[in-house]
Amino acid sequence: MTRCPPHTTDTVTLDAAQPDLPPDEAAEATPRIEAIQRLKARRNAVILAHNYMAPAIYRHVADITGDSLALARRAAESDADVIVMAGVHFMAETAKLLNPERPVLMPDTNAGCSLAESITPADVRALRAQYPGVPVVTYVNTSAAVKAETDVCCTSGNAETVVEALDSDRVIFLPDRFLAAHVAGRVSKEVIRWEGRCEVHDRFTGPQIRGYRAAFDDLTVLAHPECPPDVLAEADCVGSTAQMIDYVHRERPVRALMVTECSMSDNVAAEARDTEFLRPCTLCPHMKRITLDNIEAALTNMEPTVEVDPAVAEGARAAVDRMLAIGR
Ligand code: 13P
Ligand code: SF4
Repeated sequence: MTRCPPHTTDTVTLDAAQPDLPPDEAAEATPRIEAIQRLKARRNAVILAHNYMAPAIYRHVADITGDSLALARRAAESDADVIVMAGVHFMAETAKLLNPERPVLMPDTNAGCSLAESITPADVRALRAQYPGVPVVTYVNTSAAVKAETDVCCTSGNAETVVEALDSDRVIFLPDRFLAAHVAGRVSKEVIRWEGRCEVHDRFTGPQIRGYRAAFDDLTVLAHPECPPDVLAEADCVGSTAQMIDYVHRERPVRALMVTECSMSDNVAAEARDTEFLRPCTLCPHMKRITLDNIEAALTNMEPTVEVDPAVAEGARAAVDRMLAIGR
């Protein structure tokens, strides 16, 4: 297993003219897409879309697409009047932390994340009491209230870099136990873990991936580090969603299996036409709460917006800013 090469660009260039929607879906989606484009212009809004968004959103209404790190960076740089987060709640909170003066619209505020729900601020305080003086690194897949209790954030794209940058030979890494184990195998420090899991990546198994390998001898396996260790051991490349996409665009494998949320294969397949994608479909139910309909409604009504409790905003922003200063 190798690490996917460092991610080189924050966004993938999309060709919106590709006929990537099935005809019945296109007929239904087209008026929604056109309405959203009009609303975006009227509101001077930017739509940030995570790589797991469905193709109709990712390829037809998004202005910026990317992994969690790219979305955080681009949210910080945005000069739009309104930000729409086509992603899950922690991503909208991060955008709001970095843009406190601008409305951040979240088309469905119930779009959560099993990792973010696995840990509370009280849990972090208890860990600090158990391991005094040990710095706490928290994956961005956490609430702002949890981020506020920690020293620095990281994403799946920069976790090793952030851990290595800390002046300590032990770190507490929260909340994903599999990402923590993956990082622990690649850094020179002791990594203290939490038991959080992603309900989507947790479902993949080593035997499942070995079954695909046995069926296709020209298969390239790309896996997200939230997968269990026996899945990562089977991968040719382990990286963030953006790092996986970069790998496909750069290496143009004949046949690829992206061991992650399945809309991503649809999105990449629409661009990388000479690669055949195998698609075991595991949808993130939280990401899939975001639809063309609720994006249009959010831009029409200018709600719901995401707010961050002022009592935690400063601490959470500092943890995100420290990550952005360290880089990838
Ligand atoms: P990325 O930062 O790699 O896009 O991952 C976010 C996520 O939620 C993966 O499940
Ligand atoms: Fe959270 Fe997993 Fe969904 Fe990503 S795929 S948002 S980590 S539940």
